[in-house]
Amino acid sequence: MKALYRLRFLGVVFLLLAASAQSAEPQALFDPADYEYCLVCHGGLGQGNPAIQAPVLAGMEGWSLRNQLQAFREGWRGKHPLDLVGMEMRPVALALDEEEIADVTSYLEQLAPQVAPQAATDSSTGDPVLGRSIYVACIACHGEAAEGKEALQAPALAYQDERYLERQLRHFRDGVRGSHPDDARGATMAASAAGLDDAAIANVVSYIRTLTR
Ligand code: HEC
Ligand code: HEC
Repeated sequence: MKALYRLRFLGVVFLLLAASAQSAEPQALFDPADYEYCLVCHGGLGQGNPAIQAPVLAGMEGWSLRNQLQAFREGWRGKHPLDLVGMEMRPVALALDEEEIADVTSYLEQLAPQVAPQAATDSSTGDPVLGRSIYVACIACHGEAAEGKEALQAPALAYQDERYLERQLRHFRDGVRGSHPDDARGATMAASAAGLDDAAIANVVSYIRTLTR
């Protein structure tokens, strides 16, 4: 009987020790379940942060967020040796599992849509009038007002940061994005960026910035 008590006592001590060991575990630097972490880089309202080249997220549709998180996870973005900015984002996407992607997507989807702040000193040097004639070729997929088309998996562009849009267009053109054999969506877009020189890119982006959604 005494031996049994002792065993029970030891069992309780063991449980207590196990519990305290668990709570003493060092906190991870970033808890992927704490999605406000995304806004540390992407701006407190999800409005982007041009200083670290993080694009607007607030207002992105769920399908588009999921597509891009997949692209980073698969290494279609953020893995090419020239995609230094994408490399900032890829480890974050890799830290999320399927369930967390679903959760973070529904968290971000309910944020009020934001438009990237117009960078005063760093704004596009493009000509929106010339850009308008280039954008004609984009309408079929991205829409008249750059509102995006889910049926074609082409995201909205109207609210997005100019530098970000320019960088993405150069990356598509130069094979940094959209060149992975499994990246069918990226390949569609890469074909559209193929003929654009830097001036055309600046022009079309400055036109996109005149559109509001
Ligand atoms: C360390 C800073 C940092 C953190 C934290 C971060 N991001 Fe990013 N994210 C970036 C940068 C920089 C880019 C732009 C990459 C590029 O230009 O290719 C980006 C791009 C993205 C894009 C692509 C947007 C588009 O229009 O295609 C999505 C989606 C995204 N991030 C989602 C998230 C989510 C969700 C989280 C939180 C789980 C998060 N980010 C946390 C830095 C960060
Ligand atoms: C045939 C359809 C199609 C046409 C035409 C097209 N796009 Fe796209 N575009 C897409 C798709 C699909 C994506 C998403 C690619 C992905 O998921 O990585 C995309 C992505 C983009 C992105 C990246 C957005 C982001 O948030 O990262 C930019 C910028 C862009 N397109 C600009 C343009 C411009 C400017 C034109 C016209 C010169 C154009 N596109 C023409 C289909 C198209």
